[in-house]
Amino acid sequence: MIERKIVTSVLVYTYEELSEEYKRLVDEAKRVTQNAYAPYSKFNVGAAVLLENGEIVCSTNQHNPAYPSGLCAERVTMFYANSRYPNVAPRAIAIATFADGDFLDEPITPCGACRQVLLESEIRYGKDIDVLLFGRKGIYVLSNVKGLLPLSFDKSFLK
Ligand code: THU
Repeated sequence: MIERKIVTSVLVYTYEELSEEYKRLVDEAKRVTQNAYAPYSKFNVGAAVLLENGEIVCSTNQHNPAYPSGLCAERVTMFYANSRYPNVAPRAIAIATFADGDFLDEPITPCGACRQVLLESEIRYGKDIDVLLFGRKGIYVLSNVKGLLPLSFDKSFLK
C-alpha cells in the first residue's frame, strides 16, 4: 500500500493585503450581490471573473421555484464570460455572499458542480485561475481551481 497525499494551500488575506486589481475584483463581486435573484433563500451570491484582457465579467445566482432549475453565481458568471469572450482566458474569479443584511463573515466555497465548471475553464484555456473567496473576516485565495477539486474528472479520461 502506498499513500498519496493531495495538498491544497489556501492563503487568507485581508482586503488591504490584496493587489489593487484584486481589490477591484472583490469589490465587483460584492457590488453585484445586489443584483442576485434569490427570493427563496435570500442568499445573494455575486461572482466576478477577471479576464486576461483586463475585462471583468460579473453575475449572480438565479433562483427558480423549481429549485434545480436555478443556478449558482459561479456557473452563471463563468459560462457568461466564456460565451462573451470565447478566446480570452479567465485569470481569476472572486465570489462574495450577502445574506441577512450583510456580507458573510466566513467565505462560502463553490459547490461541486461549480468547481467542475470552473475546472473546465482552467483546462480549456490552459491557464490557472486564482480563486478569491470573500469573507468579512478574511479572503481565501487559491492559486488554481484544481486545488478545489482533487481527484477530479477531466477530458483525459475520455481518451
Ligand atoms: N449559491 C451560489 O450561487 N454559489 C455557491 O457557491 C453556493 C450557493 C447559490 C445557489 C442558490 O441560489 C443559493 O446560493 C442558496 O440557496
